[in-house]
Amino acid sequence: MNTFPLTHDQLVELTKKYQTPFYLYDEKAIRDNMRYFNKAFSSFPEFREYFAVKALPNPYILKILKSEGAGGDCSSLPELLLCEKAGITGKHIMFTSNNTPAIEFKEAYRLGAIINLDDITHIDFLSDALGGKLPETICFRYNPGPLKKGGNAIIGKPEEAKYGLTREQMIEAYKICRERGVKHFGMHTMVASNELNPDFFADTAQIIFDLVLDVQKECGVNIEFVDLGGGLGIPYKPGQKKLDLEYIAGKIHELYVQKIVPAGLDPLAVYFECGRPITGPYGYLITTAIHHKDIYRNYIGVDASMADLMRPGMYGAYHEVQVSGKENMPKDHIYDVTGSLCENCDKFAVQRELPEITEGDILIIHDAGAHGRAMGFNYNGKLRAGELLLRPDNSIVQIRRQETIEDYFATLDFSGLDSFN
Ligand SMILES: Cc1ncc(COP(=O)(O)O)c(C=O)c1O
Repeated sequence: MNTFPLTHDQLVELTKKYQTPFYLYDEKAIRDNMRYFNKAFSSFPEFREYFAVKALPNPYILKILKSEGAGGDCSSLPELLLCEKAGITGKHIMFTSNNTPAIEFKEAYRLGAIINLDDITHIDFLSDALGGKLPETICFRYNPGPLKKGGNAIIGKPEEAKYGLTREQMIEAYKICRERGVKHFGMHTMVASNELNPDFFADTAQIIFDLVLDVQKECGVNIEFVDLGGGLGIPYKPGQKKLDLEYIAGKIHELYVQKIVPAGLDPLAVYFECGRPITGPYGYLITTAIHHKDIYRNYIGVDASMADLMRPGMYGAYHEVQVSGKENMPKDHIYDVTGSLCENCDKFAVQRELPEITEGDILIIHDAGAHGRAMGFNYNGKLRAGELLLRPDNSIVQIRRQETIEDYFATLDFSGLDSFN
């Protein structure tokens, strides 16, 4: 768990200006982390992290990451437009989508993004969307199926996951595209989510490097970049170990030297499209305790809900809860910390040892900087939290306001309501 960057008094002052719940992101920590990430992989002749926009789709964050050298990995039209707003365009966008509508392919093409196809049938679908042509560069997403053992609780076993092409389809797809005039090729895979075993990633790289060599032999196509996806985990729980990126980079580099260099494929660009390890630890959901309730269990009700942070309710994910100002008090109470949705899974913590919490206490929910607000929703008519940014000079700016009742009603058409009986 990171040290929260504000003192208790500073946080209390902030909650006077901005009503809880809100997210707070730490710009300096995000910048330092992005630099560390890039440095760890600097042994590759060409490396780029395409930040997974879905993790934290805010143009201010994207601009910060862009200035640290990141590109953007998009999965939808709005994410493409967010990248454009943040000045991320052309080959600095990776468009990794699935079940993709034609309009999204058109937009990705307009921006000059690298288009990463999730299925062999998408070659024709893309060509139809673009009026009969294909882009000069194409990437395919590989699903290694049973080749990749172990799978992963969130993303599932590869052979049960909806993503990507089989090995046979990959070979076929590169041949088709070469014949149809595509000039540059990439290969992508992503078979894990929130994985903390560092050897998992070298294993994935080995599978993809082997296929790169097979494609060279069987299709006469030289792959120019590999995108190893996201999936690098962060230590949400106490006692979990942070991934050693230098170790991971070193292991992948060994494979690169063993396999890629002798095949004459050096320089092969190596890309990631991580979200969680880039911003996850540096975002906090701030919420206020508004009720306590003692029945068969003791509950603390807070003013945020699963609509602001879905991970605990959806996956039973653990997020550290800090009670601001009570850090040195004994954790001698056991609580479920809940939101107000009419869903019993709307809990930020279950049977958690915490100091005594009273109404008005401010709770800091840690590691909420990726797949946090982004996964929010409006069930029960809940309005989603806004986002604040702690700048390196310690000033705080609002980078997204809280939703309002007007936003909630904005998509409703009231014009025929009076005559509707
Ligand atoms: C295709 C793709 N790329 C990248 C990511 C980012 O993963 P993470 O935030 O765990 O790094 C995801 C996450 O769902 C994804 O689906």
